Amino acid sequence: MGFGWWKLFGAALVGILFFHGFCGAETAPNFSFMHNATTAPDISYYDYIIVGGGTTGCPLAATLSQNYSVLLLERGGTPYGNPNITNVSAFGRALSDLSPTSPSQRFISEDGVINARARVLGGGSCVNAGFYSRAATDYAREAGWDTRLVNESYQWVERLVAFQPPIQAWQSAVRAGLVQAGVVPYNGFTYDHIYGTKVGGTIFDLEGHRHTAADLLQYANPTGLTVLLHATVHKILFRTKGKSRPLAHGVVFRDASGTKHRAYLKSGPTNEIIVSSGALGSPQLLMLSGVGPAEHLRAHNITVVVDQPLVGQGMSDNPMNAIFVPSPIPVEVSLIQVVGITHFGSYIEAASGENFAGSSATRDFGMFSPKIGQLSTVPPKQRTPEALAKAVEYMNSLEAPAFRGGFILEKVMGPISRGHLELRTRNPNDNPSVTFNYFKDPQDLERCIRGLETIEKIIESKPFSKFRYDYLSLAALLNITANSPINLLPKHANVSRSLDQFCKDTVMTIWHYHGGCQVGRVVDYQYKVLGVDALRVIDGSTFIYSPGTNPQATVMMLGRYMGKRILDERLASDGN
Ligand SMILES: Cc1cc2nc3c(=O)[nH]c(=O)nc-3n(C[C@H](O)[C@H](O)[C@H](O)COP(=O)(O)OP(=O)(O)OC[C@H]3O[C@@H](n4cnc5c(N)ncnc54)[C@H](O)[C@@H]3O)c2cc1C
Ligand SMILES: *[C@@H]1O[C@H](CO)[C@@H](O)[C@H](O)[C@H]1NC(C)=O
Ligand SMILES: *[C@@H]1O[C@H](CO)[C@@H](O)[C@H](O)[C@H]1NC(C)=O
Ligand SMILES: *[C@@H]1O[C@H](CO)[C@@H](O)[C@H](O)[C@H]1NC(C)=O
Ligand SMILES: *[C@@H]1O[C@H](CO)[C@@H](O)[C@H](O)[C@H]1NC(C)=O
Ligand SMILES: *[C@@H]1O[C@H](CO)[C@@H](O)[C@H](O)[C@H]1NC(C)=O
Ligand SMILES: *[C@@H]1O[C@H](CO)[C@@H](O)[C@H](O)[C@H]1NC(C)=O
Ligand SMILES: *[C@@H]1O[C@H](CO)[C@@H](O)[C@H](O)[C@H]1NC(C)=O
Ligand SMILES: *[C@@H]1O[C@H](CO)[C@@H](O)[C@H](O)[C@H]1NC(C)=O
Ligand SMILES: *[C@@H]1O[C@H](CO)[C@@H](O)[C@H](O)[C@H]1NC(C)=O
Repeated sequence: MGFGWWKLFGAALVGILFFHGFCGAETAPNFSFMHNATTAPDISYYDYIIVGGGTTGCPLAATLSQNYSVLLLERGGTPYGNPNITNVSAFGRALSDLSPTSPSQRFISEDGVINARARVLGGGSCVNAGFYSRAATDYAREAGWDTRLVNESYQWVERLVAFQPPIQAWQSAVRAGLVQAGVVPYNGFTYDHIYGTKVGGTIFDLEGHRHTAADLLQYANPTGLTVLLHATVHKILFRTKGKSRPLAHGVVFRDASGTKHRAYLKSGPTNEIIVSSGALGSPQLLMLSGVGPAEHLRAHNITVVVDQPLVGQGMSDNPMNAIFVPSPIPVEVSLIQVVGITHFGSYIEAASGENFAGSSATRDFGMFSPKIGQLSTVPPKQRTPEALAKAVEYMNSLEAPAFRGGFILEKVMGPISRGHLELRTRNPNDNPSVTFNYFKDPQDLERCIRGLETIEKIIESKPFSKFRYDYLSLAALLNITANSPINLLPKHANVSRSLDQFCKDTVMTIWHYHGGCQVGRVVDYQYKVLGVDALRVIDGSTFIYSPGTNPQATVMMLGRYMGKRILDERLASDGN
């Protein structure tokens, strides 16, 4: 405790990485079907055109390519050979790269919370924290899914990309603390979503290599699939003449040099365009194509194809709040491994340590680093570029011991609070405007408070005692997390602040935002867009609530699941 406490406090912002032997950049698999969009013909024809080679788009394309010709259009590049993506100890580096070629595109919601969306083949699974956990069986039932095919589809995904994480001392202490805090039973290592405490899966293997949704393209039929990179879709084309409803029949996309290309559906009654552009990209693309709230579209001079007022509605982001717990002894570097699934609608997870092997340039990327936009020391609306820069500068000045410790976080299930998305411009490269309305519904706030109370019990539990300073009360820990010296802006410096104020002031994202093309509102239960033909949306934008403790397992599963459903339906109706 010789070093200044105030320095330790600064670590409330810092990084979490694990630290396994690393074996060099992965080489690209032999994807003969993957091309730069600049090489694409001006016009081409396919049975299926999928917009967005992300977490859902890749497994979907791989599956449909088995029997049909499929074009997968992805605005970003390849994840292979990029150590910022494939190397676990580089977690956060892609998220802090703000260049136009970065695999991640930062956005800031109108709420003021800094957030990120993927821009790379493999989508969110290339930049995320890797935790892998299925949705509850009830979730699948409520979604109207066939639970047998759901299980098979999860297994199809898991064969290639899911692993059991190695649990070390700090994560073990959190796990034991969760059990002592009453989050029982202990269910061991499992992908399943069951009440109690468990160890979940990860898409990082034991050597620290990330496996992504792009790897699921190994399942593809290489003669049935064309993947185009750096292909940004600007518009879905509809045919209306002589049709009872507008019929989607093609897309316009631009390559990296700005050249326009068109891809059309081959004639055939069941060929389709499928939008898998993510929770921001999918509602945005529908609107850019004339499917959305008529008045809003007209305000942007977009010709209305169908007035669909619910496109862009139902946007949610699960609030995340974390408490930083400084440790008197060294901790391992870990991303999320253990989770507590409570009965009151809050999920407890944790991440520890910091990769201190390198220089200050490599040490400070983690789940809670201001470099990736995470800033709990100032309330959302005050998270200005200046506040962020100040936090980064301060963090770079800290010594190694200041980073010793970990974050225990809670994520609000659901959530119930909802917001909306609108276009800012007609350029698909620009972020739309998004509002999530964190904690607008009092039940979300209640779940946050109960989550924090459980975290307090974990911190105070016997198994966790060696990783905390006895004399630091919860109030002091909250003060550290919410009020470190990095915050030089005026705010309520009130240690005895209520937990509800803490929830609101320190809310961050865990990047599980969803909605915008919700099932039952914008698409039907077969994910077909209401009011038009030959168009589906399949991805996280269709969710009413975020599935499981963390969504990616279910997002990948959904790509496989819907691919199988479409093949099966078509086999039954076409007989070919
Ligand atoms: C930093 C971060 C950490 C996370 N941590 C976890 C975690 O640990 N565990 C977990 O389960 N989940 C995690 N998630 C959430 C999870 O990764 C996402 O929910 C999931 O990846 C979303 O999948 P999607 O298919 O809906 O969208 P995406 O994977 O984002 O795919 C959409 C794709 O469409 C492309 N696209 C968009 N518009 C266009 C266009 N006009 N033309 C062409 N292409 C376009 C995008 O480039 C992108 O590749 C995290 C997410 C982030 C960002
Ligand atoms: C992976 O990360 C580790 C730790 O930061 C680093 O030592 C190693 O060089 C990285 N590998 C590559 C290929 O960048
Ligand atoms: C890659 O795949 C193509 C087509 O499947 C094949 O012709 C080629 O030999 C493969 N190359 C390597 C290096 O395996
Ligand atoms: C794709 O082509 C464009 C234009 O020729 C080029 O600028 C870009 O570097 C290429 N990208 C890749 C990944 O080859
Ligand atoms: C990795 O990320 C850093 C910033 O975080 C960036 O400067 C660098 O160019 C990136 N490297 C690649 C290969 O994208
Ligand atoms: C999924 O299927 C496997 C193999 O049939 C079975 O062992 C397992 O219990 C199933 N899981 C669920 C959640 O149904
Ligand atoms: C829409 O078109 C009108 C008339 O050409 C123009 O004045 C207006 O600026 C345009 N609005 C937008 C948002 O492009
Ligand atoms: C709370 O944090 C602020 C800022 O670091 C500090 O000045 C203050 O003394 C702390 N209060 C307590 C009671 O720890
Ligand atoms: C500090 O918080 C307590 C309890 O929430 C409240 O009663 C008090 O008015 C607050 N003081 C200030 C200065 O905000
Ligand atoms: C795929 O095509 C093969 C060969 O034409 C056919 O036997 C099979 O039934 C088809 N499967 C599906 C799911 O369409």
